[in-house]
Amino acid sequence: MLNPEEFIKEAITKIKEEIGDEKAVIALSGGVDSSVCSVLVKEAIGNNLIAIFVNHGLLREGEVEEVINTFKDKINFKYVDASDEFLNALEGVEDPEEKREIIGKIFIDVFQREADKTDAKFLVQGTIAPDWIETEGKIKSHHNVKLPSGMILNIVEPVRDLYKDEVREIGLELGLPDSTVYRQPFPGPGLAVRVIGPLTKENLKICRQANKIVSDEIEEAGLNKDLWQYFAVLTDTKVTGVKGDQRDFGYLIVLRLVSSVDAMTAYIPELPWEIIRKISKRISSEVSEVTHVALSISDKPPSTIEFA
Ligand code: XMP
Repeated sequence: MLNPEEFIKEAITKIKEEIGDEKAVIALSGGVDSSVCSVLVKEAIGNNLIAIFVNHGLLREGEVEEVINTFKDKINFKYVDASDEFLNALEGVEDPEEKREIIGKIFIDVFQREADKTDAKFLVQGTIAPDWIETEGKIKSHHNVKLPSGMILNIVEPVRDLYKDEVREIGLELGLPDSTVYRQPFPGPGLAVRVIGPLTKENLKICRQANKIVSDEIEEAGLNKDLWQYFAVLTDTKVTGVKGDQRDFGYLIVLRLVSSVDAMTAYIPELPWEIIRKISKRISSEVSEVTHVALSISDKPPSTIEFA
């Protein structure tokens, strides 16, 4: 990659040439890729870029408010709460690829609906190199890189050839806050792929609560910049535990704390044991439906980063 300053200069010239005086839309998730693209394209075409943030109801605790606050005064920003539409369609669905398919389809419907209101002729996507490399390899269907079949928009992908660390450098140069630039990657289908087995509002709540504890503790310990992703997976396994002096039969949660450079491979670093114990204790005491917390120690390959 060119140095960040040169990359940005060249990208802006290219985007201006490509989009001209037309309007463009982007699906802004608040993750570093779509955030960088939103700000980069805004630099090139100003308010002719409309950034649409769709809440699919599968986001992490506090995430909706955080994204709104970061972008509402920075760019031409539109918030769409479609959570009921997604969650109703997903209720009880077990198969991870089916979850992805449903989410992908509704996402396109919702996004198309919003895009149609804008007269946009261009669609900006925050695709980065590992997205298309893995999609071509068909390991998992990442819904965010499938071209929306109903869309007649022209695609602009300003960071298509970059890896995540390079996108972060661009984000810093563009003045995005650290909380966005160093935000851990979060899958498009959100917590749906971190709930193993049937997706229900109840399971989602358990998964969200456990994930909040993991991120709070990892961030408080200052380990977030050392880790690629840190999260909790709600399994569909129930195990016997003891709470108070009563037998309890609750869920097994798995902690996944991984290091990586680009998600193509990943490894499990050694972490301070007291942090892991604290996370485990907090989850099993604060999330009443959980009786057991396990730590995953599998690298990628042979495992994938997400469980589903
Ligand atoms: P895996 O689990 O395949 O994940 O090792 C590699 C990286 O991709 C993320 N991931 C997804 N991202 N849609 C996305 O946008 C998806 O369906 C999806 N599945 C996995 C994962 O979080 C990791 O960073």
